[in-house]
Amino acid sequence: MIDGVGVGSASRIPAEAFATLTHWLPANDEFARPLIALATVDVQGRPDVRNVLLSEYSPAGFFVHTDERSRKMADVTANPNAAFSIAWPADFRQLTVQATAERATPEEEALAYSRRSRYLQLLAWLNSVEFAELPQPQREAEWAAFDAAHPDGTLTPPPTWAGLLLRPTRITFWRGGALAASTRLEYTLAASGTWRTSILPG
Ligand SMILES: Cc1cc2nc3c(=O)[nH]c(=O)nc-3n(C[C@H](O)[C@H](O)[C@H](O)COP(=O)(O)O)c2cc1C
Repeated sequence: MIDGVGVGSASRIPAEAFATLTHWLPANDEFARPLIALATVDVQGRPDVRNVLLSEYSPAGFFVHTDERSRKMADVTANPNAAFSIAWPADFRQLTVQATAERATPEEEALAYSRRSRYLQLLAWLNSVEFAELPQPQREAEWAAFDAAHPDGTLTPPPTWAGLLLRPTRITFWRGGALAASTRLEYTLAASGTWRTSILPG
């Protein structure tokens, strides 16, 4: 686990909420990463959403990784307010988090890159507009050439590799079930830095 690598002394997720997260989310060292719908707001105030992998989580918050040139990075640079949601319908569970995004440390970014699959390590290097616009045969040839020129284990993050730490300001655990109405258990961070807990209808 990235247990707060360079995350400072800002507010931590309450222990009780963190314990639930460890039951709901796969451990950080599990290879398959969960997919979250990450929402941001652009400079005009328009919302946007896309699916990204949740790389890790720690008591400081939730880490995602992306390309520095992406829209989501432009969004959070102008407005750090973000949110994400993930649902497990078969388990009658949904996790929703409102957060403030900040850039992860270089150490965390390097560690997360080293844990990415080979395919995603290559993708991070070849994820440019120029590459996207190439005809498919050329894309495949350049991909294969780059792959061959960089043996497994030798790649370091490209300069465009960027990590975001989503520091939660609100964490909502939705629980459903066939036998009773769904409910939400919500943790809200107050300006004083303390967390308030509420129970809400589903
Ligand atoms: C299954 C899946 C996993 C993805 N994982 C990531 C990811 O971890 N990071 C990322 O930047 N984009 C990921 N993407 C691509 C994003 O959904 C999105 O297309 C891309 O990041 C550009 O988003 P933006 O223009 O809103 O910044 C993933 C897409 C899919 C379908």
